[in-house]
Amino acid sequence: MTWLITGGAGYIGSHVVRALAASGHATVVFDDLSTGKRSRVPAGVPLVVGSILDGDLLASTLREHGITGVVHLAAKKSVAESVENPELYELTNVVGTETVLAAAHACGVKYFVNSSSAAVYGESGIARVSESDVAIPASPYGATKLAAEGSVDRYRALDMATCSLRYFNVAGSDAVELRDDSVANLFPIILRNIEENERPKIFGNDYETPDGTCIRDYVHVRDIADAHLIAAEMLVKGELPAVMNIGTGTGSSVLEVVRTLLDLTGSSLEPEFVERRAGDIGELVADVSLARKVLGVNFTSDVREIAASLIN
Ligand code: UFG
Repeated sequence: MTWLITGGAGYIGSHVVRALAASGHATVVFDDLSTGKRSRVPAGVPLVVGSILDGDLLASTLREHGITGVVHLAAKKSVAESVENPELYELTNVVGTETVLAAAHACGVKYFVNSSSAAVYGESGIARVSESDVAIPASPYGATKLAAEGSVDRYRALDMATCSLRYFNVAGSDAVELRDDSVANLFPIILRNIEENERPKIFGNDYETPDGTCIRDYVHVRDIADAHLIAAEMLVKGELPAVMNIGTGTGSSVLEVVRTLLDLTGSSLEPEFVERRAGDIGELVADVSLARKVLGVNFTSDVREIAASLIN
């Protein structure tokens, strides 16, 4: 069987493509290259350049390559940007996912692994959020990812085998050329600050956490890629839960991440505490028992190991 990876030229998608290819799966990448890069697509893997809003191109790609499963990662992923431009997030993450699903269904695709996010949970006040906890997103971004899960569930109720993986905070890299070069997330932003000799900014130090800065569950992108591979293979053999958290189950603070990156790069810069960022929540850590039980995974990379994978 052949898998179509939407967003396969992106930071997470390119790791997923490599994990699938390394296990002998045929893959095709579908990416509009807005943030993805041609250079991240391995030699021998076909790349179709196009938008996930283009149902005709999706359908012709699915037919031409005899696709039987889709791993859907193409999306916009910045919480801050989603607050500024919610319409863009609605269009890309909700309408885009609907378009991919409709094309896949029309072309007889049976398996669908959906990239979702811990951002669906919002400020739950729960130490470790589990899939059965209520999901009330705190940002337009999270709301669009929750809506996209609902779309996936509609096709699951028809005849598709589906699973939405709710990733927590993905970071790290398996290779220099696959690193996240966006300006949307903590690790790449702080590394850029260090490179440009600018003081890293920490958004808020008045949260109800031990050091006052936000806590997140940082998970290595290599582990995220493995989770996709295992989920894709298991879907073909049988059912998976509709949603599954993918994280480590351990939280780290922003201050801890910043200090680790400063330390590993030998930088003498001091972080600067600034106002909270709109849409941020204080603490978000995964209950990972479902993925441990169902996928048999136990991801344990810590912040230092993840940071080290980004430093030459
Ligand atoms: N932060 C700073 N300074 C910076 C950048 C970020 O203090 O320069 C803080 C943020 O305020 C937040 C933490 O670092 O507290 C992590 O921020 P990110 O932007 O890296 O990540 P988010 O938690 O906002 O969101 C990320 C992804 C989403 C995903 C979510 C899941 O961007 O796609 O994690 O938890 F859904």
